[in-house]
Amino acid sequence: MSGLGQDAFKGSSGERVVPHANTSRILGIRCISGPMCARLESERSGLNVSINSSKARGDTPTFANGIIYLDHAAGSVPPIQVLDATRDYLNELGKLGLVNPAFYEKASETTKETKKKLARFINAAHMDEIGLTKSGSESIGQVINGLDWKKGDEVVTSVLEIVPGYLPLVRLSKQKGVKLRTVGISKRGLVNLEALGRAINKRTRLVVLMQLSNSLGTLQPLEEAKKLIKESNALCLVNASQSIGQIRVDVRALDCDFLVAPCRKWLRGPQGIGLLYCRKELIEDLEPSHISWTTTKWISRTRYRHIGTAERFEAGELNFGTVRALNRALDYADEMGGIDSIRNRIRDLTSYLLKRLQESNDIDVYGEAESAIRGGIVAFDKRNISPEIVAKELAREGLIIEAGDFAAPLVLKTFHRDKWARVCVHYFNDTEDIDRFIAALGRLK
Ligand SMILES: Cc1ncc(COP(=O)(O)O)c(C=O)c1O
Repeated sequence: MSGLGQDAFKGSSGERVVPHANTSRILGIRCISGPMCARLESERSGLNVSINSSKARGDTPTFANGIIYLDHAAGSVPPIQVLDATRDYLNELGKLGLVNPAFYEKASETTKETKKKLARFINAAHMDEIGLTKSGSESIGQVINGLDWKKGDEVVTSVLEIVPGYLPLVRLSKQKGVKLRTVGISKRGLVNLEALGRAINKRTRLVVLMQLSNSLGTLQPLEEAKKLIKESNALCLVNASQSIGQIRVDVRALDCDFLVAPCRKWLRGPQGIGLLYCRKELIEDLEPSHISWTTTKWISRTRYRHIGTAERFEAGELNFGTVRALNRALDYADEMGGIDSIRNRIRDLTSYLLKRLQESNDIDVYGEAESAIRGGIVAFDKRNISPEIVAKELAREGLIIEAGDFAAPLVLKTFHRDKWARVCVHYFNDTEDIDRFIAALGRLK
């Protein structure tokens, strides 16, 4: 394993990353002003918003329950329409029975329709490129374990990758003699492109890249990274776990070969369903991890053939309830004005959140200062109070955030930390939620 421990602590221009103290000042979080601030102010008085946030809040049961949910990176709150889709599914299952044609045919039709919608959502060429798995981890595993590795092959990733993306590569290097190269990040939290360029060579088979960091919230320069990969013929796996549902994810613009994500986060879908996009030309090259009656044709006693679509990654009966709920979540994102409106609203709320955090004189914020290069995730520390206590105390007030290493210890190590707190904003949050969060944070002593 090379690179780890060397690149991991260097910035994009090779500088050593500045440690924790006074981070917010070092990173220079800029105050927002002008039209954006005016818009957020006007939003408070119910004017000029591209998203109907009062409808979005009305559709989100946690608010009625007095809870301000700010941990969408772990798993967001599905709107009532998505919860109803699950309830309707279970009611129909109970009334009709699974293999009743009246039930099964509708479930199969919904599955097809959902794949078509997902394909459209990520601009895939065809629904045959869309596989439904149980989770983001399973989708990543299908790719990493499915390639035909040879000793001497190389794989490149960055310190941004988390347990389910990074450790399968470590295992690969141990079991198959594949060389793992790990690239560091700058103190802004962006992958070091120079180091990436140096790490990729003609033996590189796969590059695994995070689109939006779960621990820092930074949006990665995948356009530039893609150019480096293209020069090498390596395959590219994009981890879109934190980007799908909050920014436009376009597999053709990304020019990636594989893309993975769970659907319970920014998409506001259910738990237990993950997306695996596999470029059509590569489906036959990717051996599914499991063999099942749903994925594989038994030809003779010792011969079999996996089906030629991404359905080969769906071992066993799908949970049609989660599929139906995901279908509804995709419609709901459209009803909210579509992904660009969602992105704009999250970006504006993130600017406001960063501004409010910067006003507090005992808060350190990690990573990029500019909300244009961020999603709705902000990592921070309140000085002299452990992140766990911060999260626990806020939960007592009905404000749900999270503390820990976010399964990304290499990222935290870059900032000389082993834990921090993380707060997220989605389009159905508003500036008042942020104000309440900041006020509660201020009361902690
Ligand atoms: C960036 C990233 N990758 C992968 C995963 C794994 O997804 P899952 O929990 O569905 O396996 C997560 C989940 O938190 C994630 O944030």
